[in-house]
Amino acid sequence: MAKKVSLTGIKPTGMPHIGNYLGAIKPALKLAEEYESRYFIADYHALNAVKDKEKLKSMTYEVAASWLACGLDPEKSLLYKQSDIRETFELTIILAAFTPKGLMNRAHAYKAKVDENISKKEDPDANINMGLFTYPVLMAADILLFDSDVVPIGKDQQQHLEMTADIAESVNKNYKKELFKIPAAKMGKSTQYIVGTDGRKMSKSYDNTIEMFLPEKKLRKKIMKIVTKPVSIEAKKDPEDCNVFELYKLFATKKQQKELAEKYRTGGMAYSYAKEQLFEVMNEFLKPMREKYEYFMDNKDEIEEILKTGASKAREIAKRKIKFLRKEIGIINID
Ligand code: TRP
Repeated sequence: MAKKVSLTGIKPTGMPHIGNYLGAIKPALKLAEEYESRYFIADYHALNAVKDKEKLKSMTYEVAASWLACGLDPEKSLLYKQSDIRETFELTIILAAFTPKGLMNRAHAYKAKVDENISKKEDPDANINMGLFTYPVLMAADILLFDSDVVPIGKDQQQHLEMTADIAESVNKNYKKELFKIPAAKMGKSTQYIVGTDGRKMSKSYDNTIEMFLPEKKLRKKIMKIVTKPVSIEAKKDPEDCNVFELYKLFATKKQQKELAEKYRTGGMAYSYAKEQLFEVMNEFLKPMREKYEYFMDNKDEIEEILKTGASKAREIAKRKIKFLRKEIGIINID
């Protein structure tokens, strides 16, 4: 039996942090063991928000280098840029003809912007472009073009995936034929909560992140800034109530955890000592990935080569699908 297909889109947003890695990148990469996996960089999705030419370009290289550094094997999985699959944009037009405008009105990302405008007493549509409004249609095209069985996503993308299924179903219903496979969301564990340097959930919006590929010195500096309790060195400390130890548990062996926990409980340990231990284990874990990331960033032609191969393989699939769809919906294929 043919392997099932998993597909995910990655918005280029610069260097990922360890919350992104543990919560999204790692589980998405694990799917490659079981599925025919496809990963693409959603650069045209990014254009809706990023209007700076150099920034869009560098973020695209960064995200490709990041996923490759995290272990994406381009021999086993496909990695491509959305912008290289022209068929995606043809499918977007087809799907738009089946997408009720009202459905788009209900999309969270769009609605949040409208609500924000209203609360600021601005025009409800201020600063909202059509790309944002029709975002779920493009996303549906990304997914449906490749007959994806599963789509690994975070909770914030659940609604988009439901919309994809709705749109696909209305096409299937209209032609009384399964033109599209209905994809299923593969949600990460919502319990996966990585603590940030200030004790809140690690998130870019809180400015409490630890980026994956920081140079050693910067990594150490970040770790030294982790917020700890204002208690004396002598005080006995509870490892289970400490941001440093919480992060330590993600990278240290059981034995290392036990040893450091002992030191917390005995007292006489400065938090800077615990932070140094955290730096050691994190750095050891991150070092090989950092080196790979730096290698790719210094050799962007290699990234381009990988993306090119990925795109040409993905387009073979996409072209076939579009040809089939045109035939099924009454668009005459001349060639
Ligand atoms: N919307 C997704 C995000 O913001 C990115 C994305 C675009 C995507 N197209 C996709 C994810 C297709 C999964 C499948 O993270």
